[in-house]
Amino acid sequence: MQRRISHLLRKDDERWTFFRQWLKHPLSIAAISPSSQRLAELMIEELPPGARRVVELGGGTGVFTRALLKSGIAPADLLVLELNEELHQHLRRRFPAAHVVCGDARQLVDIAQRSGYSDGGPADAVVSGLGLLSMPRPLQQSILEAAFGVLGPEGRFVQFTYGPTSPVAKEVLETLGLGVRRAGVAWRNMPPATVYVYTRHKSRGLKPRSMRTP
Ligand SMILES: C[S@@+](CC[C@H](N)C(=O)[O-])C[C@H]1O[C@@H](n2cnc3c(N)ncnc32)[C@H](O)[C@@H]1O
Repeated sequence: MQRRISHLLRKDDERWTFFRQWLKHPLSIAAISPSSQRLAELMIEELPPGARRVVELGGGTGVFTRALLKSGIAPADLLVLELNEELHQHLRRRFPAAHVVCGDARQLVDIAQRSGYSDGGPADAVVSGLGLLSMPRPLQQSILEAAFGVLGPEGRFVQFTYGPTSPVAKEVLETLGLGVRRAGVAWRNMPPATVYVYTRHKSRGLKPRSMRTP
């Protein structure tokens, strides 16, 4: 009973932290409350089979972080990026063993190198909680380029959206040689959210950094 009460209190506290940051930075936070557990489960179901190394973009209060760790991803194999300093501090307190960095998703390749995360090899998946739908195309493109710069050849970029279609512009997908698949809907999320999975087209997809010619 006591555990249940402290769980509910922590959830309320996290919702309040998130809401306060949304009031201050509505555009970058892009949602008024953290994602639901069900959405976190749907995102995790889309990790490639046997996924070991995962990057999370826009950790927020850590709904996906917690689910990733619970699914068996080791803290040392998880890199979480969060732009907002207060949310970053929150994530560091909650997940002291994971690599949690305050930084911009566009700088992911540099951050992964500087933090030592890249030393362990490429990532199997990037799980994104970013509000991609409301971002201009050049920003979407820079973020996806950075994400596929740390992903291995078979790596996946898993993203949710509140919109009715893929949140990444078609032109961006074509420029980067990416394909997209609609994976599932979390109807009970507020608002309902759809999960999309992006992968490289076999023949012309963006190559991982390690395979690109200088
Ligand atoms: C919609 S919230 C999602 C939070 C959490 N993943 C969830 O699902 O509850 C988006 C998060 O991305 C962060 N963010 C926005 N732009 C970012 C960027 N360029 N790099 C890293 N994080 C960013 C925001 O601060 C916010 O915490």
